[in-house]
Amino acid sequence: MKNQINLGDLNIPIDQLTSKPCPVFYNDAHHTIYWLGIPEDTAFRCNTYLIVSGEEAILFDPGSRAYFDFVRKRVEEVIPLEQLKGIVLCHQDPDVAGSMIDWLALKPELKIISSDRTQVLLPHYGVEDYDFYSIGEDNDFKYRFSNGNVLEFIEAPFLHFPGAFTTLDKESNFMLSGDIWAALDINWKLVVDDFDEHTMKLDLFHLDYMASNIAAKGFALKIQDLKIGCILPQHGSIIPKEFVVEAIKYLEDLRCGLDIVYPELSH
Ligand SMILES: [Fe+2]
Ligand SMILES: [Fe+2]
Repeated sequence: MKNQINLGDLNIPIDQLTSKPCPVFYNDAHHTIYWLGIPEDTAFRCNTYLIVSGEEAILFDPGSRAYFDFVRKRVEEVIPLEQLKGIVLCHQDPDVAGSMIDWLALKPELKIISSDRTQVLLPHYGVEDYDFYSIGEDNDFKYRFSNGNVLEFIEAPFLHFPGAFTTLDKESNFMLSGDIWAALDINWKLVVDDFDEHTMKLDLFHLDYMASNIAAKGFALKIQDLKIGCILPQHGSIIPKEFVVEAIKYLEDLRCGLDIVYPELSH
């Protein structure tokens, strides 16, 4: 399970970083996680990730239609497209799922892995006929690569979407967290090196988007014993292992959303 990549080495100038897929986890079991970008120059920079395990790959949150060509080329720099088996969509927002219609036009057989509440909305992107897998904890769905490596899915209600969820890659214990621990992009670096400074960037997203302390704390308590090796959010910077405990505590203490809108009702 040991990562052969030192995440601290990845804070290099942005143009070097964004010119090719960037591995953030690799081990001898030929299990690699790539950060693919996207190198847009906005506060809402989106992160797309690819997990390649043996001869198969799963793409996470491929992003808007505007970046479809970019992300497709990035995937092809890593693997032939035949090896791409599915797409995980952490919820239906266009910055996460807009390009799903383009991916399915290219590869109609792709598995679309998401929550039931997300699935209700995905057909509004203009495609209805696809191979959907529900992550619902009730049905205990896990994605199994043919080499035996497993992806688990953990529901994260109301962070921010009611049907939001995270993915735990069991080989690395890296968590792909979607909008949870998303940060707005000020002096962006790929990897957090000062969590206190990063808290302000987390606040810029979480205070407005996340539902309430109950939602954030409930999820924090649910995952606190998982020994997460790294957090890979859909916006902002990667949170390495040394800050994971602080990141979970951040959620536990977070006052956000309805706590702020209706302070008189908040305890
Ligand atoms: Fe979102
Ligand atoms: Fe997002």
